[in-house]
Amino acid sequence: MTSQETEATTLLRFPTDFVWGAATSAYQIEGAVTADGRGTSIWDVFVTKPGRVIGGDDATVAVDHYNRYREDVKIMAELGLTAYRFSVAWPRVQPTGSGPVNQRGLDFYRRLVDELLAHGIEPWVTLYHWDLPQELEERGGWPARETAYCFADYAQAVHGALGDRVRNWSTVNEPWCAAFLGYASGEHAPGRREPANAVRAAHHLNLAHGLAVQAMRAQGHDSRIAGTVNLYAVSPQTGSEADLDAARRIDGLQNRFFLDALLKGAYPQDVLDDLGAVTALDFIAEGDLRTISSPIDLLMVNYYSRFTVSGRPGGRASAAAAPVETGSPWVGSEHVSFVNGGRPVTAMGWEIDEPGLVEILTRVAREYPSIPMVISENGAAFDDELTADDAVHDAERTAYFEAHLRACHEAIAAGVPLQGYFAWTLMDNFEWAWGYGKKFGLVYVDRATMRRVPKDSARWYAETIRRGGLRVAAE
Ligand code: FCB
Repeated sequence: MTSQETEATTLLRFPTDFVWGAATSAYQIEGAVTADGRGTSIWDVFVTKPGRVIGGDDATVAVDHYNRYREDVKIMAELGLTAYRFSVAWPRVQPTGSGPVNQRGLDFYRRLVDELLAHGIEPWVTLYHWDLPQELEERGGWPARETAYCFADYAQAVHGALGDRVRNWSTVNEPWCAAFLGYASGEHAPGRREPANAVRAAHHLNLAHGLAVQAMRAQGHDSRIAGTVNLYAVSPQTGSEADLDAARRIDGLQNRFFLDALLKGAYPQDVLDDLGAVTALDFIAEGDLRTISSPIDLLMVNYYSRFTVSGRPGGRASAAAAPVETGSPWVGSEHVSFVNGGRPVTAMGWEIDEPGLVEILTRVAREYPSIPMVISENGAAFDDELTADDAVHDAERTAYFEAHLRACHEAIAAGVPLQGYFAWTLMDNFEWAWGYGKKFGLVYVDRATMRRVPKDSARWYAETIRRGGLRVAAE
């Protein structure tokens, strides 16, 4: 649907009901880690361990969203966002991960949801964005099957409390990261380097997703329930057998292990073979895959980059460059190297590759049973600077968003049922093991004063939303 706007430009229009959002996660923005009875999460513990987070940063205050949420919602409204994706901190709701609900913790999310609705912004809730209650980690963490059942109870508590006002729900954010960065490479909390347990964690995160879907469905609200996966385009460096095998393995563990389980009810046999060489898979119980593939209404896709891989050992072992000496998160593919694909990179060192987004979206639409999708995260870190005119002229970020939204438009035109886009992220925040040094926000945050300053990219995004599409040079 292309219409002529002026002689020189064309508007690439998105469907009128397209969801224009921004995303955040609880631990990265809230701070207030002991307020109102919140319990301790694995990240609260991880950040105190020397060398785990660059600069020794922690999220005790983060960007103080817990206290400033009204101001933040006002900014969202000014940008014209139609939706906001945030996560609920499990340890606010159940301080030790099980047992009675902490009403004061839940009340924060009630207030946030009310504030969003009052501003005409649709709340999209993610139930788990990596902040496992520490007590559950002490009882075994995600490698323990019991954690998945605890998660379903927690999901039911939150959905029961907010399901009348929140329609869009996601279970687990990026199970790949939670499992393999948390338990194999140890780059993320809880920082364990136990490859066999990482595989158990991955399965139990999937199981947690499925059990939560069932628990929420049983409550009967008119909810749309999703899983959230981080998908990568993957290319072999050359056509050699070793490189093709490397690409199969990385695509298998990153993409197909989760997509096939959620949408087809089976793990891919080749990935089971890769993983079976590392650990017995006897923890996958009869019926688990049926639970994991409980029907969902939507697939939420986080997309950042492409991996180019080689089967020749000796390269960088981790795709997310690690701040400390680590093992590999690629269990069963430890020999694989991630090589430079020759594209421009963001401040994370991640290659910018918007064709990869078209590739991923059209592939999911083709290979999996028809499922509506949204892009639930997409964005880029750059070395922003607040200039003398009290602005952040982040032209590179705008270009990144523009290129990836064009990719979304292309995918929609090719028939992909893509219903929305959430920019990562609303405001600069605690970027996990990277601390505050990596800035992905549409809005700059002065950490000394907590003052929020919308960047140029935020103004561009607001204009794009207002127009309902992208203004591009006429062909
Ligand atoms: C994703 C995470 C999100 C943020 C971005 C940059 O993997 O879900 O919290 O860290 O990467």
